[in-house]
Amino acid sequence: MQAARRQFKAYLPDESATRDLGGALARALRPGLVIYLHGDLGAGKTALTRALLQAAGHVGAVKSPTYTLSEPYRIVLGGRQVEVIHYDLYRMSSPEEFLDAGFREDFNGDNICIVEWPEKGEPVLPPPDVNVVLDVSGPGREVELQALSDLGLLCLESLHYPPIP
Ligand SMILES: Nc1ncnc2c1ncn2[C@@H]1O[C@H](COP(=O)(O)OP(=O)(O)O)[C@@H](O)[C@H]1O
Ligand SMILES: [Mg+2]
Repeated sequence: MQAARRQFKAYLPDESATRDLGGALARALRPGLVIYLHGDLGAGKTALTRALLQAAGHVGAVKSPTYTLSEPYRIVLGGRQVEVIHYDLYRMSSPEEFLDAGFREDFNGDNICIVEWPEKGEPVLPPPDVNVVLDVSGPGREVELQALSDLGLLCLESLHYPPIP
């Protein structure tokens, strides 16, 4: 794996902290950003994605696309529409499934792709700009964000968490 160019760690004591981080990430998004979400079942990958999408203006439900594997959303970023595609690759059985579904074409430098269970997408899943690692820790979650590209660096440099009240 590529060496992290910038790392950021935080403790998220409760779900509202996860929501705040999702909001901070929504404000730091860039078109074409690829975000991997690492962590066990229940670590908060979907909760973080939901918070991000809702803070980015999506109204309505955000569920993990466990069976469909991917779910597209539309947000407005800097005055233009950008597609945010949320993947949950937990049930993906083979790399061919990813290729046959046309997922590779989704990673086109314009769509924002957020991927739960990226480990299941190896070796065909395109590389991330930002890695997010979530771990259950006491009542809350440890989170680590790593920038792995210039785009990821731009994103993490403009991330304001915890938010200034
Ligand atoms: N910072 C936090 N502290 C404690 N519980 C949290 C925190 N963030 C999210 N949760 C809870 O943890 C669970 C995470 O579930 P989910 O987001 O579906 O996990 P995953 O997608 O990683 O399997 C939810 O019940 C959510 O309410
Ligand atoms: Mg999930």
